Amino acid sequence: MPDDRVIASKPLRQPQDNVPQSKHARDRLLEVIRAHVGCRRPVPPLSIEELRGHTAAVLEQAGMEPKYADFAAVLLNNEVWRDTVAAIPYDKRLLLLPKCLRDAKECPASFDEIGLLCEHCGRCVIDDLKSQAEQLGYAVLVAEGSPVVMSLIEAGRIEAVVGASCLSVLERVYPYMEAGAVPGIAIPLLQDGCANTSVDLEWLWEAIYQTTEDQTRRFNLDVLHRQVNDWFSREALAAAIAPQASPTEQVALDWMAKAGKRWRPFLAVCAYSALSGDHSLSRETDLRKVAIAVECFHKASLIHDDIEDGDCERYGEKTLHAEHGVPIALNVGDLLLGEGYRLLAEVDASDARKARLLLAAAEGHRNLCLGQGSELAWMRAPKPLRVTEVIDIFRMKTAPAFEVALSLGAILADSDEQVHTVLKQYSDSLGIAYQIRDDLEDLHLPGSEELLAGKRPSILPALARDTADAAPASGLQSPAFSSSRAEAAAWRLMEAYKSQAVGSLIALKNANLKGLLRRVIGKMFHDFEMMGCCNDPQVGHAQGREPSSRRSR
Ligand code: IPE
Ligand code: IPE
Ligand code: MG
Repeated sequence: MPDDRVIASKPLRQPQDNVPQSKHARDRLLEVIRAHVGCRRPVPPLSIEELRGHTAAVLEQAGMEPKYADFAAVLLNNEVWRDTVAAIPYDKRLLLLPKCLRDAKECPASFDEIGLLCEHCGRCVIDDLKSQAEQLGYAVLVAEGSPVVMSLIEAGRIEAVVGASCLSVLERVYPYMEAGAVPGIAIPLLQDGCANTSVDLEWLWEAIYQTTEDQTRRFNLDVLHRQVNDWFSREALAAAIAPQASPTEQVALDWMAKAGKRWRPFLAVCAYSALSGDHSLSRETDLRKVAIAVECFHKASLIHDDIEDGDCERYGEKTLHAEHGVPIALNVGDLLLGEGYRLLAEVDASDARKARLLLAAAEGHRNLCLGQGSELAWMRAPKPLRVTEVIDIFRMKTAPAFEVALSLGAILADSDEQVHTVLKQYSDSLGIAYQIRDDLEDLHLPGSEELLAGKRPSILPALARDTADAAPASGLQSPAFSSSRAEAAAWRLMEAYKSQAVGSLIALKNANLKGLLRRVIGKMFHDFEMMGCCNDPQVGHAQGREPSSRRSR
């Protein structure tokens, strides 16, 4: 039975079977978890698989039944994030309370689209928790799994979440918290259901108040990305490359400034920032050289790729060779390669560090050309490809640019070999997922017939071929094939490679880098849409949605 340190509104609901109801059992479990985390030192954010593995180990150690796995997983995740949350100032934290802690019959509060508007009547614990936390500087929301939480995090308004919630809501929000690498401490409610629940207040107060002298901060990815984008305005670029303003250099500058998502320079900056902990980019001059070099390599590869593919349009405009002719385009591509290597050689670093930078770029350059080469060889004599063969081409042609970007940022921060092994695995999976999405996007553009007819090494005909009962001669031409089924299979495959990229991060010891690279996947693939998770119809109505609905991506 719950003891007197548990505050509950009346009448008390039936206790939940998968939550230990005795305070002694809960404290004992927490003790085992703290010892486990202290000894194994898992690095957040934990993927679901990592979390499951650790949870099984602690339950066995504590001699507890598997039915407590979800409860133990929440406590374990708390312990893994505890130091990070403690280091985040109160005014950058959000306290998220469930409205079901109130007395459902007596509560005079109403709801708006964000949550409960507490009337401070003092009938339940919400008033006390809210006012004390606000005094510390917390933002407080009485709402469950609200999308507003993710938007506050994305906007940089808050950097950590402390909250109480029922296990079922916590289970549903975990993938979002993990994908966003959101530092958080969640105290599970002792009952499920949506009214008159209770919480272990001692744990909740401890979570709210914890702090430390060492206040490190969360990187704001949007700010970093904007900063990187600013380096690619025509004016900013003119100060870094193409110094002589010759006609060839003008074309190169225009092409560099044209458009693009700038993911590769962004990745370089992420790796550097996370490994060096340098939020203010104090070494901006060198970092900028590295970032621009990475984009020079990328933009050169696109010029050459468009010639090789015979494509006339990129960024919604003419490709460089379509505008200036093949000879000029080839030459500008070559110039950009030279500019990239020059910038790396001009970084203010020891000769040994510069040699590492140049070697990483040269190896990536070679690998990308070998990948493009295998695609070009196939195009001279096309034949139906298996999924694994297409994936191999994607790994070879797309992953190297990501790997170079991350490696150069990491080398600038003086990283070790173990980091580079992870960066390679991460880039491989990220590159493959990225190229699958590129194929999926091309599917809906004019000219997609070539892709569908298997005239380019695309994942769609390969999936069609591998999934069709009888192997057709040329991909999607098969009557047995449904293009929507292949498309759905491609989305699933892309998700699988994204998960593999997440999995590769398990080996990282540096929590900054692990968290940042985890969040980068969400950013590159737009994964942060989130809907409320509470089943209570009153909350759902106030938020303008059907109860327990989830927006599909
Ligand atoms: C294009 O890459 C080539 C692929 C690997 C699909 P991006 O889509 O990242 O290039 P930008 O952002 O348009 O420059
Ligand atoms: C991108 O390949 C070029 C490199 C990876 C070097 P694709 O040909 O598949 O990409 P898009 O569709 O032209 O951007
Ligand atoms: Mg192409």
